[in-house]
Amino acid sequence: MTKICCIGAGYVGGPTMAMIARQCQDVQVTVVDINADRIAAWQTDDLPIYEPGLLEVVKEARGRNLFFSTDVDQGIRDADIVFVSVNTPTKTFGEGAGCASDLQYWELCARRIKEVSTSDKIIVEKSTLPVRTAEAMERVLHAGHNPVHFEVLSNPEFLAEGTAMEDLEAPDRVLIGGHETPSGQKALQTLADIYATWVPRDRILTTNLWSSELSKLTANAFLAQRVSSINAISALCEATEADVGEVARAIGTDSRIGPKFLKASIGFGGSCFKKDILNLVYLCESYGLKEPAEYWRQVVALNEYQETRFVKTMLHSMFNTIANKRIAVFGFAFKADTGDTRESPSIKVCRELASEHARIVVSDPQAIDNARKDLTDIDGSVEFELDPYKAAEGAHAIAILTDWKEYRDLDYQRIFDGMQKPAFLFDGRNMLDHDALYEIGFEVYSIGKGKKSHLN
Ligand code: UDX
Ligand code: UDX
Repeated sequence: MTKICCIGAGYVGGPTMAMIARQCQDVQVTVVDINADRIAAWQTDDLPIYEPGLLEVVKEARGRNLFFSTDVDQGIRDADIVFVSVNTPTKTFGEGAGCASDLQYWELCARRIKEVSTSDKIIVEKSTLPVRTAEAMERVLHAGHNPVHFEVLSNPEFLAEGTAMEDLEAPDRVLIGGHETPSGQKALQTLADIYATWVPRDRILTTNLWSSELSKLTANAFLAQRVSSINAISALCEATEADVGEVARAIGTDSRIGPKFLKASIGFGGSCFKKDILNLVYLCESYGLKEPAEYWRQVVALNEYQETRFVKTMLHSMFNTIANKRIAVFGFAFKADTGDTRESPSIKVCRELASEHARIVVSDPQAIDNARKDLTDIDGSVEFELDPYKAAEGAHAIAILTDWKEYRDLDYQRIFDGMQKPAFLFDGRNMLDHDALYEIGFEVYSIGKGKKSHLN
């Protein structure tokens, strides 16, 4: 029986390993993490991350061929294949601070793997890493005299949060990069065979190591760039009475462009887009490629512009003052169907509202606990309220920041009745029926669709 160990029981490692264990019953999967609380939570029905469908899959495989443990060394030692899925955040210090990836956890893992291994292993990079990281890892793994052979593969994960289980069950593709040597190709086939138990062979793409590493960064950069591109157009729509939804539909029907990732919004969030683009920028810079670096940096700059622009629209439409006004924020997660708030645009929006001395009430079905941690610096200006009706009670404005479907089904007449007048609604996700809201009496603002106002 093939034994797999995954280091890192996070948003990527947890769901991915649960799916492998569920689909491939002749492997044994152990997920290890240095965070004991996280490991303990994976063993209960109150999992450390919220992801639709995850609990069912975990329950099916847990104790059968899926295990969670804090014993990292034992996990590594027993395994034939070690996935490394630790976090690789943006560096906050030293050379490349604010741009480069912080690889300290990855390197620590490599050193640990080298130290405790007594048999040959395949090491799989699951975390998103700068191109050519595998080379550095191999140096660490094979430094000095070491009879054990490690074969490094790159197998980036393309799952999106909120749809992780669907993405894992029926992926557009599985990408595996390996060395073009006999042992590299053998390792690559071993991993491909595991995925082939449920993924059609023609969806399993194999490449060289460097292409695989770079493809993950490139995929995220392209996706983020689409959101920034349509957000740039949303500003122009507001100035010209064009409707960004209509523009997106018109260009999305062009099969060369396609309809996905053209939803204008307050901006993209999540743990990956910004981090990965900045990493790409840093890589370009370190190879002396100034213009490509600037090109990608602009995708992040545009995203920040969009967040700030939203707050400015709120401020200007509410008579240039929101001091002491109660503003109900609907949604704090970076997208619907997750409790994850990493790099959520809501963080910046709330901070900027607080700097204007607004009184903020944050509501979210899954992310209140994380929101509380993210906003400790402005905790004097923020309340938290699970119930959106209560959050909106007595408010001057509502700002929709996450596209939770719950927000589509609320009784907006009831909400309107309880609010200060004029009652403002800022739909940062263009997800509500703006005509119906206007009929109720709201002052409605959206992204790239103009306003619907009863005032003048
Ligand atoms: C992470 C990266 O951020 C992402 O770029 C990559 O593609 C996949 O891995 P995610 O799973 O969302 O994404 O990160 P996180 O939820 O923070 O999980 C990482 C886990 O690794 C944490 O639970 C942490 O405790 C664990 N870890 C970290 C270790 O077990 N050992 C370490 O040395 C460092
Ligand atoms: C992303 C990639 O999609 C995934 O392939 C990769 O593995 C990790 O990074 P994720 O961050 O989970 O996944 O979410 P995603 O669905 O890509 O959304 C990212 C952000 O863009 C969210 O804040 C979302 O609200 C925003 N977005 C997305 C838009 O504003 N408009 C769109 O049209 C699409």
